[in-house]
Order: sequence, then structure tokens, then C-alpha cells
Amino acid sequence: MSERKSTSFSSKVGLIMAAAGSAVGLGNIWKFPYIAGENGGGAFLIVYLLCVLLFGMPLIMTEFLIGKRSGKSAFGAFRALNGNDRWQWLSWLCMMTAFIIMGFYFVVTGWCFNYLFEAVRHTFDGFGTEALTAHFATVSSNTPRMIGFSLLPVVLTAAVLWFDVNTGIERLSKLLMPLLLLMMLLMAGRVLMLDGSNVGMRFFFQTDFSKITPKVIMEAMGQCFFSLSIGMGALITYGAYMPKSQNVTGTSVQVIILDTLVAILAGIIIFPAVFAFGFNPAEGPQLVFVVLPAIFEQMSFSWFSGVLFFSLLCIAALTSTISLMEVAVAFVCEASEAFANNGKKKHGKAFNRHQSVLIVSALVGGLIVLCVLSMTGAFSGLTFFGHNLFEWFDEVTACIMLPIGALGMSLFVGWCLPKNGEKGVLHADKGIKRWFRKIYIFVLRWLVPIAIILIFLNSLGVL
Ligand code: TRP
Repeated sequence: MSERKSTSFSSKVGLIMAAAGSAVGLGNIWKFPYIAGENGGGAFLIVYLLCVLLFGMPLIMTEFLIGKRSGKSAFGAFRALNGNDRWQWLSWLCMMTAFIIMGFYFVVTGWCFNYLFEAVRHTFDGFGTEALTAHFATVSSNTPRMIGFSLLPVVLTAAVLWFDVNTGIERLSKLLMPLLLLMMLLMAGRVLMLDGSNVGMRFFFQTDFSKITPKVIMEAMGQCFFSLSIGMGALITYGAYMPKSQNVTGTSVQVIILDTLVAILAGIIIFPAVFAFGFNPAEGPQLVFVVLPAIFEQMSFSWFSGVLFFSLLCIAALTSTISLMEVAVAFVCEASEAFANNGKKKHGKAFNRHQSVLIVSALVGGLIVLCVLSMTGAFSGLTFFGHNLFEWFDEVTACIMLPIGALGMSLFVGWCLPKNGEKGVLHADKGIKRWFRKIYIFVLRWLVPIAIILIFLNSLGVL
């Protein structure tokens, strides 16, 4: 196995920040407001919070524990813990999920870079609601521009993985995460002073229970997995690098709190502004990109605010893409090594880390081009059941692949591995109290799998 000791984290805070950097990203600031806006605001929020409580804690803990116990990435972890290949399908699922998420996540990151670039060159002062909506449509339908801006973050992410500078990133996110929070607090403060902002607050915080439909529950579960980076083994890698003395429970709680805080803050910024400026909350994926510039217009130092916020957003996106791409790169590296050493005969040479970064970047680049073309370019007529590739990638990963990954992991740890003793994952963290172990195993064995299956069946209309 190619162990990469150099990437281990320098401190406990460093690991928390890195895992939080993976969790906090476009999922919180871009996806959460748009999905909440489409699914009834307050109704969505309450179901989302319930999902975070039910799934967040046990599943984040599970991924950390799998990594910490095995010391391996998603490719080697299941085999190492189980001693055979019966659960290897899970690592394949993780790898495929990573690719498909990257296929659309980089496109949205591209939108962020585009807006950063524009924010540097000019302010959006005087644009108005309609002009901002039209502007997004113009920008996002410029195919060559969008391909360029989406490939830029691929190159940046690949560079980080190539030079193995994760410790640098760890230090950077320790500094920038508080800055992002501060900036968002300032924006929330400004937005809440706008006339009519209370309508938005009511939309976001008032629960109309009649709006909780099977679709809302499904979307909330998917969003919970997506936002917390659960269900495709990204956090297994972080667990593998976790210092032995670090406790999994505390780390998980901190990541969950930070991630949820940023999502709620994003809602408090976006919805009051949506109603104050007369946007439509169910606008779809472009929601935050049309609303944010309108907010900067209202702030003092509008140029500076815009540039600062979009810079922080781009960096938050990059700390997430790093964790996504790492899963794929480790998979290609380790799978090719396993293949090369399989049996007595040598089957050629394994890919080293640099080659794996190149292969993954090329494949992801291809997916991104397809995705952009299907939205606005040559393939825009090509839809499946009325949705383009971007919408499919987004929907299929959040609502199907991540839940299946999470289900697999909960069954693996809950039922397949022994509860106690050296072979169980809990062996990785001796600090967990006995009563808490019992609850953890019970939730993982019963509550999590049953809830995921019920939500699936419910959304299929079976129940
Ligand atoms: N959680 C990140 C966000 O909110 C996206 C992300 C990074 C992710 N790594 C992941 C999602 C692994 C699922 C699985 O933007």
C-alpha cells in the first residue's frame, strides 16, 4: 500500500478545520438556499435539521472510525477491516460518486470564479433584479467561457494534490474559515436591515407542515449527506490521518455544528434579500448568483465586499473539491497497485500519485465539458426525462448514490464487523463511553438503515 505519511495533520484543530473545509462549501452557500427555496423554506429547514440529528452524527463518526481503525482510504478500508472483498463494491460506489459529484460541482465552482473575476473588474451597482437574472443567463450560456472557468478549479485542485500541500491548505483554512463566518455575519446584519426582510425570515423559519411532502424529505436527506460530505468515503481519508489521541465524537460534533451554522447563515442572508428585492425563492440553481450581487450593492464598500466574499466562496469550494478529488486519486493509485500485484504474474506497473492526479483530472475535465455542453452548448437539446446532465448529476448523487453509500457503511459497521474487540471500529477510539457505544451501535444498526429505506420507499410512492 502506498502510505502517504506526509499528509498527516499537524494538529487536532488542523484536522477539524480540514474536515470542516471539506464539509463547508457550495453545498452550504449555493445548494442549501436553492433547495430550501424550492422546497418550501421553513418546511425544508425543519426536516433538514432532523436529518442532521438522525444521520449526521452516526454517519460522520462511522466514516472517521473506519478510517482511523484501518488507516486506509476508501479503497483499502473495507477490505482491511473485513479481511475479504465482499464489501469492495462500496469503494467502487464511493469512487463513482466522487466522479459524478465533481462533474457538476466544478461547474458551480466555475460560476463562483466567474463572479469573482467580474467582481474584481466592476461592481454590480445599478443592475437591478431583472438585469442580474439576465446577466446570469448570459454568462452561464457562454459555453467556452464556462468551460474555461470550470476547468480552472480542476487545475488548482490537481495542483494541491500533486504537490501534496495539504498542510498548507490546512493552515489556510484555519485562517479563512473564521473570516468567512465573519463576512457572512456582516452580510446577514446588512440584509436584515432591508425593508421587507421579515417576509424572508418568515419564509425561512416558519414551518408550514402541509408543505412537508415525500419529495421534501428525500431532498432534505440528500442535502444532509451532501453538505456533511457523508456517503462516499471522503471522511474515511481524514479519519486515517487523525492523530491517535484525537476523539472522534468531539471532532464529529464540531464539524456538524460548523457546517449547519454556515448553512443557516446562508439562509438568513439569501431569503430576506430574495423577498426584499423581489426575486423568486424557487429560482433554482442560479438563486444565490443573482441574489448575492444585489446584496453587495447595498453594502458599504460594495466593491471590496463583493471581491472578498467571492474569494472566500472560491476557497471554500476548493477545500471541498480537494476532498472529492482525493477519493478518486487514492482509488486510482491503490486500485492500480492492487491490480499490478494481483496473483503471481506482474500485470504491468501501478500508477503513481502524479499519474493518478493526471488521469483523474482528465476524466473529470471530460465530464465537466459534457455537463456544460448539456446545459447551454451543443448538447442542450439532449435531456433525459426533461433534465439535463447537470441536474442529473446533482440529483442522482444526492438522492440515490450518497444514501446508498451511507446505507452500505452503516450496515457494514453495524452488522458485519464485530461490535466490540479489536476487529470493531470502536477499537480506534478508546475514549468513547460505554453507554455511548451502545447507542451508537443501536442507531447504526437499526435507525439509520431503516430511515434511509423508508425515505426511499416513501419518495417512490410505495408507502
Ligand atoms: N460537503 C461539500 C459541500 O457542502 C461537498 C463535498 C465535499 C462532498 N466532499 C464531499 C459531498 C464528499 C459529498 C461527499 O459543498
